[in-house]
Amino acid sequence: MTHGQFPYIRGRRLRNSAALRAMVAEHNLKPADLIAPVFVMEGEGEKVEIPSMPDYYRYTLDLLLEEVKQLKDVGIRSLVLFAKVPDEKKDNKGTEALNPKGLMQRAVRAIKEQFPDMLVMTDIAMDPYSSYGHDGVVEDGEILNDKSVEILSKMAVSHAKAGADIVAPSDMMDGRIGAMREALDEAGFEHTGIMAYSAKYASSYYGPFRDALDSAPGFGDKKTYQMDPANVQEAIKEAQLDEQEGADIVMVKPGLPYMDVIRAVKENVSVPVSVYNVSGEYAMLKAAAQKGWLDEDEVMMETLVGFKRAGADLIATYFAKAASKLLNEQS
Ligand code: PBG
Repeated sequence: MTHGQFPYIRGRRLRNSAALRAMVAEHNLKPADLIAPVFVMEGEGEKVEIPSMPDYYRYTLDLLLEEVKQLKDVGIRSLVLFAKVPDEKKDNKGTEALNPKGLMQRAVRAIKEQFPDMLVMTDIAMDPYSSYGHDGVVEDGEILNDKSVEILSKMAVSHAKAGADIVAPSDMMDGRIGAMREALDEAGFEHTGIMAYSAKYASSYYGPFRDALDSAPGFGDKKTYQMDPANVQEAIKEAQLDEQEGADIVMVKPGLPYMDVIRAVKENVSVPVSVYNVSGEYAMLKAAAQKGWLDEDEVMMETLVGFKRAGADLIATYFAKAASKLLNEQS
């Protein structure tokens, strides 16, 4: 539509100044949307950079507490905790995962003691504790479902006892959310939440994470329990099932190659949806930025707001601290 030679409607009018752009922005990222993944290891006074994740570290518990303080200072309010387990403590049943004095349990207790307001989530899966690097008990080369669910439920209770606010099962066994909800309630942890990794794909983007925890599968792959990247209808089914079984939050993982899955899940559940911007996504941007091929900060913020636009309410990301800092500077 034009009058004379002029268009009536000019989209550019609303893009004409920073104030206007901010006013009409449809999605806004804030530090409270972000969940910072943190890696803890045994020992004292040490932090180790993860080779495939530049600027990202695994900390001994004492140094992790300093890192948590920094996260808190930039406005991060929640973290998800992963523990690196020494090889000699790994077995097929993930026995160490249930140790009340295990690294994960000690880390949860220490963080909650020093930072009671920090929302502490814990990863529930057997792979860091498994001698096979799988998320469940292995028998004759098969990953057993129901036996694994029993262990995972105990793990959830153990983390809740240590003070975890939310447990985050990332194993993709069937029926684990219902079983975990029941186990938590029976143990008196009716207020402990569950963030279910509902649509977790069998992805090669987890490579750097497996370096960080030394948790790569010893044989085979995870395709009999994690999802096929070709599927989206199945993601809706998994997310709806987890919602019915009592999940408080459902998650899609990885993030960038699965934007459509985030949208589909968001439109089909009524609980908040989170996305995990995984280690390989972090590694790709870091590598390109190191080469001077991409602007790290710009691409990071574009990616994160993209998740919100796709329908994610929460974002677990290794960029949490950097993004939060930037958001503070901009406001
Ligand atoms: C453990 C777990 C994995 C990730 C989160 N929890 C690895 C896997 O399933 O192999 C991946 C996170 C990332 O790549 O950032 N089950």
